[in-house]
Order: sequence, then structure tokens, then C-alpha cells
Amino acid sequence: MTQAHAKKGEVIRSYSDLAVHTEVGAIIQHHSENKEDIRLVVRDAVPWNDNTSKVLDLGCGYGWFEEIMPAGLDVVGGIDCLEENEAPFLAAARPKAREVFFFKMMLPARTGLATGRFDLIVSLYSLYFFPDFLSEIVRLLKPGGLFLCLTHSARMLEEGQHYFDFKNLRKVIKRFSAENGHQILRPFFKEISHIDYPNSLIFHTGDEKALAMYIDFKKEFIEKDVDPRIVREKMIAELRRKGKLRFNKNDRIFLAYK
Ligand SMILES: C[S@@+](CC[C@H](N)C(=O)[O-])C[C@H]1O[C@@H](n2cnc3c(N)ncnc32)[C@H](O)[C@@H]1O
Repeated sequence: MTQAHAKKGEVIRSYSDLAVHTEVGAIIQHHSENKEDIRLVVRDAVPWNDNTSKVLDLGCGYGWFEEIMPAGLDVVGGIDCLEENEAPFLAAARPKAREVFFFKMMLPARTGLATGRFDLIVSLYSLYFFPDFLSEIVRLLKPGGLFLCLTHSARMLEEGQHYFDFKNLRKVIKRFSAENGHQILRPFFKEISHIDYPNSLIFHTGDEKALAMYIDFKKEFIEKDVDPRIVREKMIAELRRKGKLRFNKNDRIFLAYK
């Protein structure tokens, strides 16, 4: 294993437990100031029609997006480096498409998939792990096809930065963030637009358990910068002192046409 792979592996471990992922998803939703479901915003940004029936999901996880995709599609494929995502992904995708597949693969990698095979490729909270895969994404899209990606602001959790220096977290997100996404996509696509999803996570006194779980979920991102237990204790002490904590969780959806 290369050093880069080992580093990625540490971040990826935080996505490896479906039950935890689901619980943290519920915490994020409950503590979000923006009450619109981001998945529905993403889904409704896609012009679903007969020409949008072959879909590939990169860094697909357990099928978070497939759960709310429209049905009646031709193909839904997912690629993810974690084997345990295969069964839940396929279970979520099956009701939506005639043909489904899952490749366990560490991207960037050669997929062996045919050129121009997909109408729509999505990458939700994952392109910052494999920005070097963009030329392959373009190859896999049909002419005029859509690449949709959802990413965080480089200022995510900036309020925590007041107490700690989250260099590693910044480094990962800066590989593809709301702020630099246009610049990174521009050489590959003809037309690029975006939709902002402004949001903050708000925790009040009494929410200590939820805050601790959220920080634990982010621990693979922050543990190279500072011991996550110290972050957790400090943030909980701050929550008790101030009565309320707010964290930046602004996201951006990019729509890029080939
Ligand atoms: C934040 S999760 C997002 C999952 C899903 N797209 C969602 O929005 O719920 C990132 C996903 O990317 C996968 N991943 C991370 N690095 C990867 C890589 N280099 N190649 C393939 N998958 C990767 C992880 O296993 C994880 O499922």
C-alpha cells in the first residue's frame, strides 16, 4: 500500500459502518438550519427524461442517492472502494433500473466501461478523494451528458478552526471544493453551472451526545491534525459554556455538461 493509499484509507474508514452513517445522517438532518433535504435538491437538479436513463454513481456509498432516484431507468451502476457497500447499494438501485452493477474499486482506476456509456454521472461528497479521475469521467459520458457533483465549502467546520488547526481536513476538501470546483471542472466540460445549498449545523445545550457523535464521524479527517478526543471534549465544553454552537456546512452542487 502506498502512503497516499494508507492516508486515504484512514479517511475512508469513517464511511464503513452503515448503522453509524445512517445515525449521523439523521443527526446532520436534525441539526441543519436548512430544512430542505439536500438529496431532493440534487435529484431535482437533474433533467430526468428518456435521455437520462444510464446512470453511474462514483463513491456511491450504500446507495444514499439511489434511495430517492426516480424509477424506470435502464442502468444504475455504482463504484466504491468499500466492499460492504455492495449489498446495500444494489438493494437501493434494483427497484430503480433494469440493469444494476457495483464495482469495488479504488479510484482513480481503469474501469473497463465503454466510452460514452452514461447519460449521467454523479459524485456526491466524494470527488475530493479522486479528482484525478475527471478525464475518465468525461470519457464515460456520452456527448452532451451531465456530470453532477456535490461538495463542501473549503470553510466547512471553520468555527472549529478557531480552536484547532484542521490542516488535513482542509487539504482533502481543497482537492475539490465549492470554491475551486468551477476552476477544476473548466478544462473538461463545455458548460458548468452550480446550485448553492447554504447550511449550518446548530447544536444547543443538551445536544452534547449528537455533537460528540458528529465529531467522532469526522475523526478520520481531523485525527492527523489533533487528537479527536481533545476536539470532542473542547467542543462539548464550549457548547456548555456558550449554550449554542454553529458550524459552517455550506455545500454546492455542480452541473457540468460534456
Ligand atoms: C462521504 S462518502 C459519500 C457516499 C455517498 N456518495 C453519499 O453521498 O452518501 C464518500 C464515499 O466515497 C468512497 N470513496 C472514498 N475514496 C474513494 C476512492 N478513492 N475510490 C472509490 N471510492 C471512494 C467511500 O467509501 C465513501 O463511500
